Amino acid sequence: DTMKDVLGKYFTVGAAVNIDIVYGRSPEEARIVTDNFNSIVAENCMKGEVIHPEENTYFWDDADRTVKFAEDNGLEIIGHCLVWHSQPPEWMFTYENGDTVSRAVLIDRMYHHITNVVSRYKGKIKGWDVVNEAVNDDGTMRQSPYYKIIGPDYVRLAFEFAHEADPNAELYINDFSMASPGKRATICKIVRQLKADGCRIDGIGMQSHNGIDYPDLDEYEASIDSFAACGVKVMITELDMNMLPSPDDFSGADISQHFDYQDKLNPYKSGLDSKGRKLFEKRYLDFFGIYYRHRHQISRVTFWGVTDKGSWLNDFPVEGRTNYPLLFDRENKAKPVVEKIIKLF
Ligand code: XIL
Repeated sequence: DTMKDVLGKYFTVGAAVNIDIVYGRSPEEARIVTDNFNSIVAENCMKGEVIHPEENTYFWDDADRTVKFAEDNGLEIIGHCLVWHSQPPEWMFTYENGDTVSRAVLIDRMYHHITNVVSRYKGKIKGWDVVNEAVNDDGTMRQSPYYKIIGPDYVRLAFEFAHEADPNAELYINDFSMASPGKRATICKIVRQLKADGCRIDGIGMQSHNGIDYPDLDEYEASIDSFAACGVKVMITELDMNMLPSPDDFSGADISQHFDYQDKLNPYKSGLDSKGRKLFEKRYLDFFGIYYRHRHQISRVTFWGVTDKGSWLNDFPVEGRTNYPLLFDRENKAKPVVEKIIKLF
């Protein structure tokens, strides 16, 4: 029995897939997905900058193919994401002369974007990350173009437009650093307000880009409880474990010019040493221990990628590193921790 069979008793188990996987250019990884997971999400191809590059131009090929991959393999598929300050349809915020658009124009553009994307996959996509990363860690609202041009109610409008386009789709709010108490409070406030306004909101996504010393496990668990208490599903949406230190840990160094820092930032070039491997396992088992305890509140756990080789963390926040954040290694083999996670359930 694999993860999807055992953990699947309680929640779906997903992975973010890139286009190589869905086009058959990475058959081993595709096999890992269909063997171990029962849910997928597109890593990039449904984001605004890719799917809607110009006002009257949509690029559907990759998203269509991703939906087909899910259908062909009997996988649930989640849509990511409709409104986000990063990788946005950049044209949306300005007129041709470069001036910032009016509130009414941005609402209209956002309406058309959401309506066209969501209705294309109506009945096929189980739920959408409607608004991604709207809140700062301190609980203030992120000053994204959507916020600055439309105002705080861009969040409610996005949920209304998405619901109108596919009344049966689940709708989620998604963010990182969800263990932060300030962010937790604001997310709960937004969700309760959306409900009070009569909007559909089904779940809160905790990205969970975790590392060896963050987040604080008690705060993370407190957030699961607080989110569940809002009366919505809790989803772990982008799980991975960054095993490398952050450039912030080397403050003052200009990492782009100092390649010796690159080495310091990448201490595990030839693989994790035994200490690193132990820490990796411990962290994953700590988190899955939490997911087990909260198995009746959590409805999905999705990893952000499939194998270490394809992980975005090889290139973020520093490019060209060798990172070890996922459960499947560079040779497409399951790491020993997979069996240990399964045994927890
Ligand atoms: C990342 C992708 O994995 C990268 O390939 C891309 O270059 C940048 O975005 N939070 C999110 C995801 O919600 O969409 C991001 O995905 C990772 C952080």
